Amino acid sequence: MEILGTGRGIPKGILTNQDLEKMVDTSDEWITTRTGIKKRRICSQEETWTLLATEASRQALEMARMSPEELDLIIAATFTPDYRLPSGACLVQNELKAYKAAAFDIAAACTGFIYGLVIAEKFIKDNPHTKALVIGAEVLSAVTNWEDRSTCVLFGDGAGAAVVAAGNHQGGVLASYIGSDPRVWDLLCVPGGGSLHPPFKPGVAKEEYFVKMKGNEVFKYAIKYMEEAARIVLKRAGFEARDVDWLIPHQANIRIINMVAKKLGIPLEKVIVNIDEYGNTSAATIPIALDEAVRDGKIKKGDLVLLDAFGGGFTYGAILLKW
Ligand code: UT7
Repeated sequence: MEILGTGRGIPKGILTNQDLEKMVDTSDEWITTRTGIKKRRICSQEETWTLLATEASRQALEMARMSPEELDLIIAATFTPDYRLPSGACLVQNELKAYKAAAFDIAAACTGFIYGLVIAEKFIKDNPHTKALVIGAEVLSAVTNWEDRSTCVLFGDGAGAAVVAAGNHQGGVLASYIGSDPRVWDLLCVPGGGSLHPPFKPGVAKEEYFVKMKGNEVFKYAIKYMEEAARIVLKRAGFEARDVDWLIPHQANIRIINMVAKKLGIPLEKVIVNIDEYGNTSAATIPIALDEAVRDGKIKKGDLVLLDAFGGGFTYGAILLKW
């Protein structure tokens, strides 16, 4: 399976660390040194999940020179689509008029884009004519507690997408791996809003409807599992970390990114980083970073690219591909 096109949908509104200093007890210095984030994008009333995801998808289709009617499959990785029902993928399908496709969402948090690519790969193996659109998109501002300094400085909104198909050159996905470890799921969760604590259930505090995270504990798992997933795909494909041209890690914290790169032995010049611009956009971080790196001309044909993510669940996964 090859990636034939990429795209991104980015909200216009920018929220800087200085803006956050006026909202909660924090400082640009703390946020920058502890996370690497300088600003993040936040949706306005008019900018919806579907709008961002559709924009990313249109760009990816254009780069792939494919019309929406050709799509057989639309997979959206997200936990913040516009509605609980229908899925975000169905709403993008409607916007694109891609009526031939089957469309569904997957819930794998920040690893969702990698999970989506792995699922698409299976469909393509089953039927090599399959043309698929994989989206990673989030409006995290809707599930952020803007009074909680330990989380509100971290998140942003955005969307990325990739068009994938069997392809016709020697390359594409060389190895993939996904895994999950639910034993400490409650270190990172949104307790309210599901069927256990539906919206407006009496006695449920409003804070329960936002992302809750024990950051410093999640931190250790992120490093452990991102390193593990990366090593597994490198081994499966018969490559060493030194062969990697570009590492595109999930953008949750610059210290996690640096430590994973260091543990793998990948120099920082080979690591795509945009957390300073967008913060953590969960399932969207990797496809946004991929699209930027492709359009900036950093990733060139024949390059070995390693995608590596970790998120709530916990979920984790990696994909090694030849561009
Ligand atoms: O995307 C999915 C996976 N997510 C992640 O991988 C995130 C992983 N975790 C992290 O990135 C980091 O743990 C955080 C950025 C969330 C937090 O950084 P930390 O270095 O682990 O800080 P901490 O939670 O241990 O807190 C250290 C101190 C505390 O103060 P005391 O108790 O030492 O006095 C916090 O209250 O920093 C304080 N603090 C803040 N101070 C200023 C927490 N948030 C803030 C803030 N501004 N925004």
